[in-house]
Amino acid sequence: MSIELIDIHKAFGSKQILRGFTLNVEDGETLSLVGFSGAGKSVMLKHIVGLIQPDSGRVRVDDQEVPKLSRTELYALRLQVGYVFQFAALFDSMTIAENLAMGLQKLEGMTEAKIRDRVAESLSLVELEGFEQRLPADLSGGQKKRAGLARAIAFRPKYLLYDEPTSGLDPVTTTVIDTLILKMKQELGVTSLVITHDMASAYRVSDRVAMLYEGRVLEVGTPDEIRATENPIVRGFVEGKPELVEQGKSNGNGVVANNGAVPQRRNE
Ligand SMILES: Nc1ncnc2c1ncn2[C@@H]1O[C@H](COP(=O)(O)OP(=O)(O)OP(=O)(O)O)[C@@H](O)[C@H]1O
Ligand SMILES: [Mg+2]
Repeated sequence: MSIELIDIHKAFGSKQILRGFTLNVEDGETLSLVGFSGAGKSVMLKHIVGLIQPDSGRVRVDDQEVPKLSRTELYALRLQVGYVFQFAALFDSMTIAENLAMGLQKLEGMTEAKIRDRVAESLSLVELEGFEQRLPADLSGGQKKRAGLARAIAFRPKYLLYDEPTSGLDPVTTTVIDTLILKMKQELGVTSLVITHDMASAYRVSDRVAMLYEGRVLEVGTPDEIRATENPIVRGFVEGKPELVEQGKSNGNGVVANNGAVPQRRNE
């Protein structure tokens, strides 16, 4: 029960986005993927649910080869993998309850009463009790993000994929979301992959942090290992120091032989 991305290459036209991207998310773990804007984080995430097909490489979820699944199999897989989109992606003309209930009737044994309970329970997990009849337009940015998360967890998935769950939020709301990510792991036992720009968040919620750079995983390690990184590009990114990134590029330190499957250890 894990997510395995093995040597993925993906280009759009002449633009090579992923160039040998390899990463494992272990059962029960929360892994954060960080990287510069436009690096290909969202593209990588979409491979996991079959929204994007790799040019080459393997995408395995729950021991299934995602690019080889039939429509029906893919649909079944998507019920196991909650996707919290970068921009909430709620249907504006539907109430929050309707947004959350969509598709739930397809789960086995789901009656209308059970759906209502599940919706209420999911809203309560993200601290939006009583928001059933509200429309997305009436919610703040942070509330929308939480409603997006509630919709993903309404399916009680084994996996949760979060695309920038805290971007554009104030520090307090960010902490609320981080606490929710931790709660999903503790209370629902989900395996999570979180895409984020926010290093404080990444350190708070993650068992491991990986950095995507030039289409590959440049480094992966525990928050402590990443804090102590000696790679100038990783250090420049996590500390917000562009001059270190430039230095790393000119030293050729951006290219590190690392398949991303095991945490890198520092040579002490
Ligand atoms: N369907 C598509 N067709 C063509 N190009 C695409 C497509 N999807 C993404 N791209 C391009 O791939 C690159 C990576 O995009 P992606 O959205 O993965 O970046 P990101 O790392 O998630 O950035 P951000 O942090 O800004 O969200 C960008 O140059 C983007 O324009
Ligand atoms: Mg993105």
